[in-house]
Amino acid sequence: MTIYYLFFYLHMLGFLGWAGITTGAYYLMELSGGWTTDLIRAYWKLLYLELGSLALLTLSGAEMWSQLGYPSWVHPALAISPLVALAEYIHLTSVRKMMDRPSALRRRLRYLSWYYTLITLFIIYDMVFKPDWF
Ligand code: HEM
Repeated sequence: MTIYYLFFYLHMLGFLGWAGITTGAYYLMELSGGWTTDLIRAYWKLLYLELGSLALLTLSGAEMWSQLGYPSWVHPALAISPLVALAEYIHLTSVRKMMDRPSALRRRLRYLSWYYTLITLFIIYDMVFKPDWF
């Protein structure tokens, strides 16, 4: 069971990195109105941290899932995972292509943040309440 908690620990670190870092940077830019190309370039570097954390989150989750004997409550999170991949794809390509068009990027990320919020609320609901839907 100790090894299980090691993966749980990694899962929580991955969660923090995936959901916390760029969200914080986004709100900092949004609240300060600081959408400069320099800050957007720094934001771009944080996106690598976000993707690495998502990989950690997914791999540690898959390992715990296998150790638990593949319970069905994980299925809704897996079903929604293509939407997470789509969000990451839009996130990366938008920042890369719109680095020198801050107001267009700002508008795009405003929509994207709602999309991320809905997906994340759904996945965390599934992870915490573990509904037996299937
Ligand atoms: C964006 C994706 C994900 C997020 C935000 C997320 C978040 C969380 C959170 C907050 C918990 C703690 C819940 C609790 O202890 O009550 C958790 C636990 C867990 N997650 Fe995830 N998770 C994600 C993806 C995944 C994936 C893809 C899998 C499996 C393939 C997975 C499998 C698990 C398992 C097995 C637990 C442990 C449940 C327990 O022992 O109580 N997670 N996750």
